[in-house]
Amino acid sequence: MKTLAIVLALAVTPVLITPAVAAPFDKGDPKAGQATHDKQCKDCHVARFGGDGSKIYTRADRRVKSASGLSQQITTCNSMLGNQLFPEDELHLSAYLNGQFYKFK
Ligand code: HEC
Repeated sequence: MKTLAIVLALAVTPVLITPAVAAPFDKGDPKAGQATHDKQCKDCHVARFGGDGSKIYTRADRRVKSASGLSQQITTCNSMLGNQLFPEDELHLSAYLNGQFYKFK
């Protein structure tokens, strides 16, 4: 009986631990984020940084240093657009930008 209890405990443990180590923004949809990004965000960044605009995310002195900083910056940029996006859109954008450029864990 004792052995069974230990085996069960070991089998269940990873399931309980997984949510704690899940990536930030894992509820966002990066594909939806990319679509919104290319439509609403890119042009302005391209105008300032040239190329495809992605330098804004990869430059050495980039501003965003954490997952929560990324959410904040997206909200700031969104407000320049006149708050056209819903919180879900911001989550999708975070998922896209984090997966592609920032890679915060
Ligand atoms: C009106 C122009 C404009 C629009 C539209 C815009 N941005 Fe920005 N964004 C900026 C500028 C300017 C900066 C750089 C700020 C700085 O360096 O001080 C920036 C910076 C950022 C950064 C931080 C980059 C870093 O340094 O790490 C992120 C992330 C970002 N924008 C996301 C978005 C997203 C997502 C959207 C679309 C919802 C968006 N932006 C739309 C102008 C814009």
